[in-house]
Amino acid sequence: MSKPDEGLAGRHIVLGLSGGIACYKSAELVRELGRAGATVQVVMTEAAQAFITPVTMQALSGRPVLSSQWDAREPNSMAHINLSREADAILVAPASADFIAKIAQGRADELLSLLCVARPIDKCPLLLAPAMNREMWLHPATQRNVAQAVADGATVLGPGEGDQACGEIGDGRMLEATELCDELIAFFQPKLLAGQRVLITAGPTFEAIDPVRGITNLSSGKMGFAIARAAQEAGAEVTLVAGPVHLPTPRHVRRIDVRSAQQMHDAVLPLAPSQQVFVATAAVADWRPASLAEHKIKKDGTHRVPSFELSENPDILAAVARLPVRPYCVGFAAESQDVAHHAREKLLRKNVPLIVGNLGPATFGRDDNTLVLVDAAGDREIPTADKLSLARTLVREIADRLPT
Ligand code: C5P
Repeated sequence: MSKPDEGLAGRHIVLGLSGGIACYKSAELVRELGRAGATVQVVMTEAAQAFITPVTMQALSGRPVLSSQWDAREPNSMAHINLSREADAILVAPASADFIAKIAQGRADELLSLLCVARPIDKCPLLLAPAMNREMWLHPATQRNVAQAVADGATVLGPGEGDQACGEIGDGRMLEATELCDELIAFFQPKLLAGQRVLITAGPTFEAIDPVRGITNLSSGKMGFAIARAAQEAGAEVTLVAGPVHLPTPRHVRRIDVRSAQQMHDAVLPLAPSQQVFVATAAVADWRPASLAEHKIKKDGTHRVPSFELSENPDILAAVARLPVRPYCVGFAAESQDVAHHAREKLLRKNVPLIVGNLGPATFGRDDNTLVLVDAAGDREIPTADKLSLARTLVREIADRLPT
């Protein structure tokens, strides 16, 4: 199992629950936030307590739940001040239609809305995860209130769409706990690629021999998918062209699935001129069978082994690097030895400004990797870490190298 992303390490989150059936997801959310390294202080409205008990939330967060501004446990009787000064963010999940209306109006008649109004706006961000019936979500008053809350500095996460507890289908579902946790992690990442378009290739390619067989390789796509997530977290608009892999698409990333190197090439080339960054992590097959057998190649009992002619695949990275208007190009070199040497050779041969070297057999399919960055300035090793941490480091390195 992969290690949890510790993207909230050292963060203190006030998790507010207002009334809604989605409160059941907030129990899981506390656990997700904890796994991501955060400490969590739960605050519940009276309505929330009709859906889930403070006992459950206390047990999961490891802290007494607060629900009243008159709570005598606060020595200075100022829970709203204490809570909003300690927090790195306030996340209200679920945020009901009524609660959002209160935020839009700046009302403060119970602890949760009170501490939202009392928070120092520039230091303590407010994130709202709406959860309500689709008609309530679409109601002009709700939309007006959401727009007002956003204008006043709140960030809205979701809502998602799909089956609702009321039996209807549409917009208004609270995002799932893992999605909300990922959104919060992304929220805290520095927006180093804000406004930039980033195109990434990932995974292996599959070069068909006949309708059931083909040539491929052991690339899992994990590094490329991690870079897509890290670039998106950094504020980029990300397109991920993926070979055949079994990985979920990172949130807010546009994914284009392809199979062969030629398909990957044909998906990438028209997009490339409009991008600021191109990161080629895909392990593209160098060759493909020269012809595709229409039917499965069968054994004929003679023990004769079929042989194949191979044709060379287009080099996607080199083709992008040759474009008259080209993005900043980053290549990968998965080698079995002499990583830095081979990476530098690729830097020159493909005419790209940055090659990221790694040991192919040691990293394929794994969650950890070690990288060496090779560019005109020299070689720099990025020590072993999980692929998402490495991807965030690489995004920083790329952002530093972009023309201002
Ligand atoms: O050509 P080679 O495999 O040595 O270089 C690896 C780098 O080039 C990787 O960034 C890979 O994604 C990219 N590449 C490509 N198209 C190919 C072969 C490799 O984009 N046909």
